[in-house]
Amino acid sequence: MTYHLITFGCQMNYSDSERIDSVFENMNIKSAEKNKADILIFNLCSVRQRAVDKVWGMLKNIKTQKHRKHPSASLGTGKSTENTKIKKIIIILTGCILPADKDKLKDKVDLILDIKNLVSWPNIIRDYFFTNYKLRITNYEPFKSYFSITPKHSSPFTAYIPIMTGCDNFCSYCAVPYTRGKEYSRPAEEILKEVNKLCVQGYREIILLGQNVNSYQSFMSFPPPIVVEGRLQRESPGTSNCLFAGIPACAVMTKDDVVNFPILLKLIDSIPGNYWLSFLTSHPKDMSEELINCFKECKHLMPYLHLPLQSGSDKTLKAMNRKYTAEQYVKLIHKIRKRFVNNSYIAISTDIIVGFPGETKKDFEATAALMKKIKFDMAYLAEYSPRPGTAAAKLKDNVSSAEKIKRKNYLNEILKKTALENNQKLVGQTISILAESIKDNFAFGRTNMMKNVRIKLDTKSTESIKTQKILIGQFVKIKIIKAGPWGLEGEMVKK
Ligand code: SAH
Ligand code: SF4
Ligand code: F3S
Repeated sequence: MTYHLITFGCQMNYSDSERIDSVFENMNIKSAEKNKADILIFNLCSVRQRAVDKVWGMLKNIKTQKHRKHPSASLGTGKSTENTKIKKIIIILTGCILPADKDKLKDKVDLILDIKNLVSWPNIIRDYFFTNYKLRITNYEPFKSYFSITPKHSSPFTAYIPIMTGCDNFCSYCAVPYTRGKEYSRPAEEILKEVNKLCVQGYREIILLGQNVNSYQSFMSFPPPIVVEGRLQRESPGTSNCLFAGIPACAVMTKDDVVNFPILLKLIDSIPGNYWLSFLTSHPKDMSEELINCFKECKHLMPYLHLPLQSGSDKTLKAMNRKYTAEQYVKLIHKIRKRFVNNSYIAISTDIIVGFPGETKKDFEATAALMKKIKFDMAYLAEYSPRPGTAAAKLKDNVSSAEKIKRKNYLNEILKKTALENNQKLVGQTISILAESIKDNFAFGRTNMMKNVRIKLDTKSTESIKTQKILIGQFVKIKIIKAGPWGLEGEMVKK
């Protein structure tokens, strides 16, 4: 019995897929290529119409070959059972799916499973196979956080750790509050244990995930755990070791105290190890002073921030229900950048939507002007796509597709210039990068500002190639010798 998992969407969905992989592996169902698998799983993203259309197209194609011959199955038993011959491909749909998209796709799939019920998937799938009748149950067992499942990380050195899911912000264009539901924050202790384990295993990069990490909030019973020699331990209150992220816990903690996002960051940062720490995604309205200070206080925190702007027009921002003005955003960026002095630098990336309903040329020009002013290091530009059920879907999608593309290309040109300008300032610096891969005599990696780097390798001897391969997943010292808009070139610095 085999499965194949296809993931769409953001890092949050990719992170969920690592937990899906782990569940299937525990059921003794192995991963296989798409056209050989018995079970096909689509982990969907409803944020834009394009991904939904793509899945629709793929499902139509699969339907024609749905009754392939299959070998005997062994479902979770570890043994082959001759009489459980499966004769068709089972298609499972999960992820962030809007109700309207669910309706559209439901007849093309066998099961629609809620990712939040991942803990129950083995039972649901077994029942499906053995009773052979169609069920589409979402609440099979009482909810148990699927985050407690240990994921099968796809990288041995970079780990994405969800700290929360859902969103209560209801930006008018966005599907997320309707697909992932209300905000839920994982208990701090569970997160700390997971990060600590990865640090002990030698992970080099920890990226915390959530739709709006800034609104993370959980409670931790007193006294909080601390890390002693790489292990989480509890200390009695009042002892000198009773530290909460370096602060004497007794001074700041009361029974069942609140852990907000900056405190969580400080707690994680207190875990020893040689690693980088980062987080995605922040909402400008929730970037508190306390959080901004973390960039100076937390030694592992990468000088990188993804802060979605969406639009530079106050009128559009209001219609988007973003709850900040262009001026407030600019002030915030200044405040953050002011923390980085003496040649230190923070890279800032953003998300922008072009062609939101009612976006006039003037509104668009305000976005373009703001992009020029802020000089982003990276921007993810999207053409507005109406999502059924959201507030903006009631507004007329009155910017033509051709105009949206034109606007997007225009912003891309601005980004190209500012990113190049920013990258050129880094030329000549000697820095550490995280080496990620080697291909065709080049090593590829990333700086702690999330900038891609390419390094020409010394390939004179087979011995040097061997030693260079060992560098993957490690921090490597390089000198930046050249800059482009989308990345840097560097050379290895001899020790
Ligand atoms: N939670 C994050 C990301 C949400 S979705 C945040 O608050 O920023 C990721 C990005 O997709 C958004 O930032 C937005 O730029 C884009 N997006 C969301 N809905 C969209 C829509 N209906 N059309 C086009 N882009 C959209
Ligand atoms: Fe969507 Fe807004 Fe929530 Fe981000 S903050 S997930 S854009 S509703
Ligand atoms: Fe898409 Fe869900 Fe992420 S809707 S953008 S995969 S949170």
